[in-house]
Amino acid sequence: MKWLITGGCGFVGRSFAARLLGEQGHAVRVFDNLSTGKRSDLATVGAFSEINVGDDSSIWQEGLSLQEGDILDECAANRAVVGADVVVHLAANTGVPQSVEDPMADCRTNIIGIVNMLEACRKANVPRFVFASSGAPLGVQIPPLHEELAPHPASPYGASKLAGEGYCSAYFHCFGIDTVTLRFGNVYGEGSGRKDSVVAKFIKLAMAGEVLEIYGNGAQTRDFVHITDLVQAIRCAAETANIGGETFQIASAKETTVSHLTDVLLIAMRKEGMEEPKVVHGSHRQGDVARNFSDTTKAKNQLGWTSKISLEDGLRDTIRYFLNRSNR
Ligand SMILES: NC(=O)c1ccc[n+]([C@@H]2O[C@H](COP(=O)([O-])OP(=O)(O)OC[C@H]3O[C@@H](n4cnc5c(N)ncnc54)[C@H](O)[C@@H]3O)[C@@H](O)[C@H]2O)c1
Repeated sequence: MKWLITGGCGFVGRSFAARLLGEQGHAVRVFDNLSTGKRSDLATVGAFSEINVGDDSSIWQEGLSLQEGDILDECAANRAVVGADVVVHLAANTGVPQSVEDPMADCRTNIIGIVNMLEACRKANVPRFVFASSGAPLGVQIPPLHEELAPHPASPYGASKLAGEGYCSAYFHCFGIDTVTLRFGNVYGEGSGRKDSVVAKFIKLAMAGEVLEIYGNGAQTRDFVHITDLVQAIRCAAETANIGGETFQIASAKETTVSHLTDVLLIAMRKEGMEEPKVVHGSHRQGDVARNFSDTTKAKNQLGWTSKISLEDGLRDTIRYFLNRSNR
């Protein structure tokens, strides 16, 4: 199979690429502007060749390659997708705070960027397009989140991801591209060294001997999905028949308070020989939703996917990843 992964130097993209390259018969091309993910990050997946301007990008070779470029660049996008069997679209502005700070930049990357990639796929007859969305398009809801809820985005990031979902639906209905939208929960795990989400942040702080600050009383809930489970969901979305135009919640389907997460994390840190950090409660963060978890029944029924990795095992492996990384 020929896979084009936009944003493939990032956390999710590298894990997905590594999974594919662990098998025979895959040509994996990463299309990334290196704004967050770097060449050195991609090198952790394995040796890669580079596709430069002037190269014949319709030739795909088994193994890993990088085309440096921006999803907003029409010519670069056209060159990146030509001949691909599947495009996995991960490149994005990934942060709610950044989207609040600069909604226009978020709009450009997350809306114009996806339309540009879908257009490139249309012109090149790429049959399938998997889009990384999130719970943010649904906004403030009474959980569990599921696919039938009417979206009410509460941030520019949620709005731009919702627009992306809309374009995926439109390109399925108008042009027959099998677009599949996956709404990821809070992803954590190995490879998250550059992330600032709660798990990665707390482990990095603990390793630096700093205090962990829980916003508010810690009763707020989230749905933490391990990267290995997530990668399997992307694989299912890329290969399952008759799911064009569909959207799936991809999460653990478990409601976990931030306090509980912290407790499990502290136990795992102790077991891995780390010094236990001090935990304090700070003020409630404006805009933080009180409760959040997903119902993943649709993914189970149509993709044959459920999350399998327990929080305990997932956090242990994540801590080991961070410890190994710092020893290198
Ligand atoms: N990690 C999570 O918890 C989570 C949760 C919900 C949704 N998502 C979505 O999953 C996707 C992947 O997330 P991630 O955690 O791997 O993010 P990441 O920031 O680790 O990786 C994103 C990659 O995209 C690249 N990129 C950014 N803008 C680009 C552009 N204009 N052109 C080309 N490349 C560009 C960056 O250089 C980076 O390598 C994103 O779309 C994100 O919104 C992630």
